[in-house]
Amino acid sequence: MNRRYRKTLIAGNWKMNKPLTEARPLLDGIKQRCSKARWCEVVLCVPFVNIPLASRLMKGCRISVGAQNMHHEVSGAYTGEVSAAMIKSAGVKYVIIGHSERRQYCGETDELVSKKVRLALENDLRPIVCVGERLEQREMGITLEVVTLQVKAALDQIPAGQVRKIVFAYEPIWAIGTGRTATVEQASEVCKEIRAVIRKKYDARIARSVTIQYGGSMNADNAKELLGQPDIDGGLIGGASLDPDSFNAIVQAANQ
Ligand code: PGA
Repeated sequence: MNRRYRKTLIAGNWKMNKPLTEARPLLDGIKQRCSKARWCEVVLCVPFVNIPLASRLMKGCRISVGAQNMHHEVSGAYTGEVSAAMIKSAGVKYVIIGHSERRQYCGETDELVSKKVRLALENDLRPIVCVGERLEQREMGITLEVVTLQVKAALDQIPAGQVRKIVFAYEPIWAIGTGRTATVEQASEVCKEIRAVIRKKYDARIARSVTIQYGGSMNADNAKELLGQPDIDGGLIGGASLDPDSFNAIVQAANQ
């Protein structure tokens, strides 16, 4: 973390969990424990149907609401899809874009991610762009190349004045939901490289203003060490965000 230049951000990603009846107690539990965090921003990326409830419950407290996806077109005949303007109007501040599960199961490409990032910014939403390598890519030694290409694609046609609104989340795919966390060295190396890519495209001032998270089996036990690294400014939390105590332990590690 480096709070002098950028925001620390802990984001929960509920994925496809928690129908409304179960969302309510979880939101209450998180609100009770986490709403006093002063030094880091907390955001809950909940399923679409839970957004209105989450927005209502978190009104007036420091916790923001996020979405997990949005469509890449403005509006129109896209049955079953949800637009940037719709989530914005429901109280959303952040939106996860290009999560590896969407890249893997829904065929999201770098080109689509790029469109979504631009559309999110046009709608005054802050994109959390997920990047990360597959296990075989790490084993081949091409992690930095893979991530660099993903970051460059997300920044395509983004003017310098907008870059600081984008959050990057480095999520090695082999670490997501597996209980296998990247080592501090692995996570730091890639987050540092992401910042270097931004610096080369824009400048040092812009690069140091961008929040870069780590995601992939982050939990109460490993959060402190990961967040202690200068280029890791927060976490994108899946499994541990479904338990108020575990999530709060990570928030507190970021709040020190
Ligand atoms: P995990 O998920 O914390 O359960 O590994 C992280 C993510 O997919 O964002």
